[in-house]
Amino acid sequence: MTEAIRLTQLAKRAGCAAKQPPGFLLPLLHSLPKSNDANLLVGSITADDAAVYKLNEELALVLTTDFFTPIVDSPYDFGAIAAANALSDVYAMGGTPLTALSIVGFPDHLLPPEALVDILRGAADKVAEAGIAIVGGHTIKSDEPIFGLSVTGTVSPRRVLANSGARPGDVLLLTKPLGLGMITTAAKRNQDDLGAIEEAIRIMATLNRVAAEVFTSVETHALTDVTGFGLLGHLRNIVEASDVCAHVVVNHVPVLSAAWQYVRAGIVPGGTHANHRFLENYVSYDDISQDDQLILCDAQTSGGLLAALPPKAAESALKLLRDRGIHAAAIIGRIEPEPAGTIIVSRDKHDARASDGTRSVCPFV
Ligand code: CO
Ligand code: CO
Repeated sequence: MTEAIRLTQLAKRAGCAAKQPPGFLLPLLHSLPKSNDANLLVGSITADDAAVYKLNEELALVLTTDFFTPIVDSPYDFGAIAAANALSDVYAMGGTPLTALSIVGFPDHLLPPEALVDILRGAADKVAEAGIAIVGGHTIKSDEPIFGLSVTGTVSPRRVLANSGARPGDVLLLTKPLGLGMITTAAKRNQDDLGAIEEAIRIMATLNRVAAEVFTSVETHALTDVTGFGLLGHLRNIVEASDVCAHVVVNHVPVLSAAWQYVRAGIVPGGTHANHRFLENYVSYDDISQDDQLILCDAQTSGGLLAALPPKAAESALKLLRDRGIHAAAIIGRIEPEPAGTIIVSRDKHDARASDGTRSVCPFV
C-alpha cells in the first residue's frame, strides 16, 4: 500500500478542473475538419459525452476517453474515480461499456512503482463493477501523475441519448450533489476542516451505471454527465444542441453542505472560475448570489447524470432512483422554448427548505 503518498501535491491542477475550459476548447473544435461519415451518429460538434458510430441497424459503438491529474491523495481512490469518470461518458449516451484501455503518465522519479500498481488496481476494481475489464493501455513518463481510460461501449442506434434531444416541457433531473470541486480543492490545500473529502470520494467513485439503467428504462430525451464544465456548462451544451432554453431553480439543486462553507471562504478551483466567466454570455441569474453562481458552475469530477425528460417520466425515474439508493437525485428545473441556447437561474421563493436533495415531489408537474 502507498497511503503515505499525497498524490494531489504532485498535481498543479486536480481532476476535471484540469480540463481546458469550454471557452478555449469549443471554438477550436469548430475550426477543425468535420467528418462526413454517415455512420457517425454523434461527433464532437455537439460537445457530447462520447462519439457514437453505427456498425449496423442494431448496433453502434460508443467511444470516449477521459484522463486527468490526481483529484485525491490515495492512488487506489484516484484510479477508481478516474475509471468511474471515464465510464460515465458511455452511460451518459445511454450505452453499455464493453472494454477499456488505460492511459497513464507516471513520474517514476517521484513515486514508487507500487503507487502505479494501486492506481491500476483501483481502476481494475471499478471497471469490474461495471462488468468489464481493462484490456490494454499505454504508459509514458511524465512530471505529474496522469490517469484515465478510453472506454468503448455499445448502444442501439435508435436509443442514443445525445445532448440534442431536450424538448420544451421536459424537466431536468440531476443524480449527484454538486460541490465536489470545492471540497477536493479544500482537501488539496489542507483546508477541509469539515472532513468532507471522504463523502466526496465515495460520491466520485460511484458509477453512474444504476442512474443510466433508470434513465434508459423511461422516456428520456437528453442525457449528459456533469463533470469539468460544471452543471451549467454541461446544461449549456444541452440547450445549445437542442435549441431550447433551460430554467434552473437554484434551491432545488442538491449541493454537498460543506461546499457552501468552502465557497464562502473563497475555496474555489480555477476551473470553476473559468466556467463561470465563460457562462456569463449564456446564463441570466435572477438575483442569485456570487457564491450560488459559483456552486452551479463548480467543476465536478465524476459528477452525476443530468437528464431532460417529460415530467411523468421524471417522476417515475425519481422513484426508481431513490428505490435503488440514489437519494440525492432531484428535479432541478425545466426546459422552455426561448430564448434558445440560454439558461435562466432563479430561486423558488416559496420554498424555504435548503437544497438537501430529499424532495419527493416534482415542483413542475
Ligand atoms: Co461527459
Ligand atoms: Co468526457
